[in-house]
Amino acid sequence: MLPKNARYSNTMIAIHWFTAVLVVVAYLVSEGGRHVRANPPVLHFACGFAVLVLVFARLIARAAGGAPPPVASVGPALARAAKLGHAALYLLLIAVPLTGWYAVSRLGVPIDLWGLRIPAIAAAVHGRIGPIGEIHQIGGNAILILAGLHAAVGVWHQFARRDHTLERMSPF
Ligand code: HEM
Ligand code: HEM
Repeated sequence: MLPKNARYSNTMIAIHWFTAVLVVVAYLVSEGGRHVRANPPVLHFACGFAVLVLVFARLIARAAGGAPPPVASVGPALARAAKLGHAALYLLLIAVPLTGWYAVSRLGVPIDLWGLRIPAIAAAVHGRIGPIGEIHQIGGNAILILAGLHAAVGVWHQFARRDHTLERMSPF
């Protein structure tokens, strides 16, 4: 068992895994624009908004000391690469829901999450909504690819380098 100060805080760990599940579900239930207009995927919107709310909660928990210092055996180059990768994930966790919100507003689809009405952030248009839908789709795919790589690196750390990296984020 790692000492407490070498692990992420319980709040950070809970948000990390909850977010991972929400991102995968949002991806699995995503739909293209035409289908969104005909039959809005409410679960997609709800998971995406939950990701957006949680990323801010997580950044606050991080600023409050929720993240441990890097693993001692990791050199400066690898530590910088990890920092960059994590920053890219954080950026996508904000940019993907925001572009989705913008796209759904342009489509003119009301965002009604089982009674919770979220306002539009752009004027609705008839017909094509411009590149924002594609940008959102590319971002949605990128976050899954990057998270997959990130998970593979975590497994490599744990089992090839044996530096206990996965245990730092383990809920057990
Ligand atoms: C982490 C969260 C999210 C992920 C991973 C994600 C992923 C995706 C993906 C992969 C697509 C393309 C689906 C297809 O063309 O078959 C898509 C479409 C879409 N998503 Fe999201 N999304 C997320 C959050 C959101 C949010 C918060 C909203 C809005 C409330 C949203 C609204 C839309 C809309 C309107 C489209 C259709 C865009 C178009 O085709 O023009 N998404 N999403
Ligand atoms: C959509 C899925 C995922 C997202 C968006 C994501 C995102 C992140 C982010 C942003 C961090 C940095 C935390 C910080 O220092 O503030 C992190 C850390 C971490 N993640 Fe993930 N993650 C995902 C899935 C996974 C999976 C599947 C695994 C395991 C196989 C994993 C293992 C870890 C570990 C071990 C850390 C801590 C790394 C360290 O100690 O430096 N993550 N994750």
